[in-house]
Amino acid sequence: MSYFAVKGGKKLRGEVSVCGAKNSVLPILAATLLNAGENVIHNCTDLRDVSSAIKILKHLGCGIKREGKTLTVDSGTIKRYDVPEELMREMRSSVIFLGPVIARCGKARLFAPGGCELGPRPIDLHLSALSKLGVKIEYRGGEIICEAGDMRGEDIVLGFPSVGATENIMLAATACRGTTRIINAAREPEIGDLQEFLKKTGAVISGSGTNEITVVGGKTDKRVEHTVLPDRIEAATYLCAVAACGGEVLIKNAVPEHIKTVISCLSDAGCGIEINKNGVLVKSDGRLKSMGKIVTMPYPGFPTDAQAQLMAAACKASGTTVFCENIFENRFRHTSELLRMGADIKVSGKTACVTGTDTLFGASVGCTDLRGGAALAIAAMSARGESKIRDIYHIDRGYERMEEAYSSLGADIERKE
Ligand code: UD1
Repeated sequence: MSYFAVKGGKKLRGEVSVCGAKNSVLPILAATLLNAGENVIHNCTDLRDVSSAIKILKHLGCGIKREGKTLTVDSGTIKRYDVPEELMREMRSSVIFLGPVIARCGKARLFAPGGCELGPRPIDLHLSALSKLGVKIEYRGGEIICEAGDMRGEDIVLGFPSVGATENIMLAATACRGTTRIINAAREPEIGDLQEFLKKTGAVISGSGTNEITVVGGKTDKRVEHTVLPDRIEAATYLCAVAACGGEVLIKNAVPEHIKTVISCLSDAGCGIEINKNGVLVKSDGRLKSMGKIVTMPYPGFPTDAQAQLMAAACKASGTTVFCENIFENRFRHTSELLRMGADIKVSGKTACVTGTDTLFGASVGCTDLRGGAALAIAAMSARGESKIRDIYHIDRGYERMEEAYSSLGADIERKE
C-alpha cells in the first residue's frame, strides 16, 4: 500500500497550477451520453474518480481516448443502460449517471450508492425529482430500475439545494417535453460548468448560479468541445497549506470569486492574499490567528470540502476556531488523526472546537476520506518531525499526484510503497 513520508517544517515557495475541477469533470463526463457524437473534454485531471467514471462510460459502450488532459468520449456507440454494483461502489457520485442514461436510453438499471465515509448518502431528492418528470422507479435487491414513460418538464422544488440532485435533474430534463424548472437549485460553480456543456449539446438552459434553473430539452450528435473549470477545492487546499506552513505561493488559474469565503477566513487569520491576473498570491509567516466561527453551507457559503484543510491550518493558530459542519453527518473523522499529531480539538455533534497549539508533531496517521486526507498532508507538512500518511488512495480520488505539487513548492513529501 502506498503512503506519504513527510518531513515537516519546510516553508512553501513558488507557483502551482490548479487542475480541472473533479466535481465538474464527473457530471460533464456523464453528460457526454447526451451527445451521440464526439465529446472533446479538455482539462480532465487524472484522478481515481475520473478513472471510475471512464470505466462506467466504457461499460455502457462509449469509445474513450485520453491524450494528456483531453478526454474524447464517443457515445454514439452506447449499447447498455446498466451500471454494475462494483462500478457504482467505486465512486459514490456514480449516481450522476442515472439522469443521462435515462435521457439517452429511456431506461436505466443502477445500484444505490449506499453509505460512505461521510455518512449516509441518500438519493431521495434525485429519485423523487425523476419520478415527477415521468420516470417509473422500482427497487429490486438494491438495484434501481428506471423506465422513462412520457417525460414531461415540471416544476421541481428541492427541499435542500443538493448539488448532485440539481445536476441529475438538469441532465434528465434534456429528455423532457416542455420546460423543467428547478427551484431551490444548488448554486455551485460546477453547476454553471455543466450548464455551459449542456448548451453545447443542444439544451436550452439558463439560471445556473441562481436558485432557479430552467431547462428545455435537447440532445444532439455533433462534435462538442469543452474545457473544465479550475478546481476551487484544490485551490483552497493550497491556500490552507501555505497558511499553515508559511511561505509565499502563486496559485495559478484559481478563480478568486469561487474561493471568496476561504480567502476571507485566511485573511482574518493574518495571511496576505493578493489577487492578480495570474491567480491568487498567498503569503504567510506560519503564525496564524484564530478564525472565529466557520460554518459550512451550500455555495456561496463556506464549502464543506474545504473544512478539513482549514481545520489543519487552525490547529496551529493562536486562540480557538469553531467549525460547524452542516452538510455531511460524518465529516470530522480526520480530527482523531489530527489529535495524534498533538492538535487540541473537541468534537461535539456538528461542532469542532480547535484550540491552536504552538507545534504539531509528526506521527503515523491514516486518511479517513478525501479532504480529511488533504488535511493530514497539510498538518504533516507544518508539523515538527516525520509523519507517515497511510491510505492515500483517498487523496488520489481528488488530487493528481499531490506530492509532486507540494514537492515543487519545497515540501519534503514522498510517495512510498
Ligand atoms: C457534491 C460534491 C461533494 C461536496 C457536496 C457538497 C460532487 C461529485 N461531489 O456531493 O464533493 O462535498 O456536493 O458541496 O460534486 N442529500 C439528501 N438527499 C439527496 C441528496 C443529498 O439528503 O437525495 C443530502 C446529503 O446526504 C448531504 C447533503 O444533502 O447531507 C448535500 O449533498 P449534495 O449537495 O447532494 O452533495 P453531493 O452532490 O453528493
